[in-house]
Amino acid sequence: MIKKIPSSRLRIGMYVDHIERGWLENPFFKNQFEIISQKQIDKFKEFDIREVYIDTSKGLDVSEEMESEPKASIQPGESPDKKEISAEGKPPKSAAYKKAKRVYATSYQTTRKLMNDVRLGKLVDAREVTNTVENLVDQILNEQETILGLSKLQDYDDYTYTHSLNVCIFCLAVGRALGYSKEKLANLGVGALIHDFGKMLVPIKILNKPGRLTPDEFKIMKEHVVRGVTYIKQLSGIPPEAIQVALQHHERFSGKGYPQGLKGNEISEFGKIASVVDVYDAITSDRVYHRGMIPNKALQKIFEWRYHDFDAELVEMFIKIVGIYPLGSLVRLSDGNIAMVIEGNPHNSVRPKVLILFDSSGKPMDSPVPVDLAEHTSLQIQECVEPETLDIDIKKTWEEWGTITIT
Ligand SMILES: [Fe+2]
Repeated sequence: MIKKIPSSRLRIGMYVDHIERGWLENPFFKNQFEIISQKQIDKFKEFDIREVYIDTSKGLDVSEEMESEPKASIQPGESPDKKEISAEGKPPKSAAYKKAKRVYATSYQTTRKLMNDVRLGKLVDAREVTNTVENLVDQILNEQETILGLSKLQDYDDYTYTHSLNVCIFCLAVGRALGYSKEKLANLGVGALIHDFGKMLVPIKILNKPGRLTPDEFKIMKEHVVRGVTYIKQLSGIPPEAIQVALQHHERFSGKGYPQGLKGNEISEFGKIASVVDVYDAITSDRVYHRGMIPNKALQKIFEWRYHDFDAELVEMFIKIVGIYPLGSLVRLSDGNIAMVIEGNPHNSVRPKVLILFDSSGKPMDSPVPVDLAEHTSLQIQECVEPETLDIDIKKTWEEWGTITIT
């Protein structure tokens, strides 16, 4: 039961369902949460929030004496929007989300350490690579979507490491779609995780140069492929198939790639997969000197290049995996409201689950409203919206809201 109570009556163990405060002015950022500390209660006073709605089915109720106090019930559907789409958000998919987050964080730390070792001229232990990849393979096989979302929405800002890890995760998702065995997935994943080791052997000045490289610098940068492969071949325990990923991830179907200028099927399947994934992650990532392209636009670009640069079938498969509207995308709905994609729909990629965050004028909703577009067929996605046009931190918002379950 939903009850309106004075904030002064809040107690640890109560479950806050709603605060009558604009979403972005809400000091807790989210509306629904359990009170677990006095600090949270103090915040209500600090921000002068005098009343709060609690859900007694999810947390403690007010004591008997409170029953005589004025109270109110929220009827789902107090506004036309909420009525139509049910504003009831469910608790986070905690177990799956926490696990994926842990796997990503651990893999990131290992990738970072390994790449720094490469820069220092040390020979890394291939078992560290294989152990990391095995965890990622398990994650992809058991619960792929969360880690695919996480890979592009994590708040790590060092592209060098996140790129290697993201390429590995997306390559594994493609390998899974191709029906690879666990062993084959591991080989692909190992190759993907170490595919840019050679970048650690390029002078930092060139690697992190903001802006365009000169032709000479670009020549040195391109050497990362051969330098990387030479380095990797010194490691014991790296399967030859995996080395193909490092060697061929810059080859292009047209023959205009490097270092060998291989054409079409001269490129191995691992190489073809890696080239698509490498480009997708590169163009969607924020760099020192430019903002990443929104995923939907990046997929359109890759789709345009599918016959020239890539294996067209693999491109189509990749788009299916990532979804036309990847997790975290901002979209304008047919009623004008702006929402974030928070869960894909494997049966109909244009009808994912979304969270309405802004009204049609760009004003934040009082409370984000989850909608399953597969259920609410009167609503459609009209277009993607650039996050820069709104007052929003995509990664933070997804972290807070992107994991709720909509039923
Ligand atoms: Fe590369």
